[in-house]
Amino acid sequence: GVRSYHERVVDHYNNPRNVGSFDKNDPSVGTGLVGAPACGDVMKLQVKVDEQTGKVVDACFKTFGCGSAIASSSVASEWIKGRSVEEVMSIKNSDIAKHLSLPPVKLHCSMLAEDAIKAAVKDYEAKKAKRNESIELTEGKVAEA
Ligand code: FES
Repeated sequence: GVRSYHERVVDHYNNPRNVGSFDKNDPSVGTGLVGAPACGDVMKLQVKVDEQTGKVVDACFKTFGCGSAIASSSVASEWIKGRSVEEVMSIKNSDIAKHLSLPPVKLHCSMLAEDAIKAAVKDYEAKKAKRNESIELTEGKVAEA
């Protein structure tokens, strides 16, 4: 029942922070979409990164899942804002689980949030690498011409 949940879970569940979506084609946006095969819950987390500073300037999520998954993604979205990409990559699901006092059976819900953060950052990095690659290619062509 609801009474077994920590008040922070209930708070984030009732009043989730940063629910929403960014345009995934925006070059400053990284999108992480992950699922938990065991329960079928799905989480989408997005980061907006300032390329100059390497900092996550904004974050949002949409979670189709249990209360703990929603609370975990809400906490994750708060924690990653304003942090560098490196700091964000070091956020552990155990930190989120501890913050929310999740019981052992709900640990995979916080795992989903860690996976989503990592997937979002990797997506951003991959897009950036691709952009830089095509810039190099174009410059290469110019040099050859
Ligand atoms: Fe699967 Fe919570 S029960 S994410």
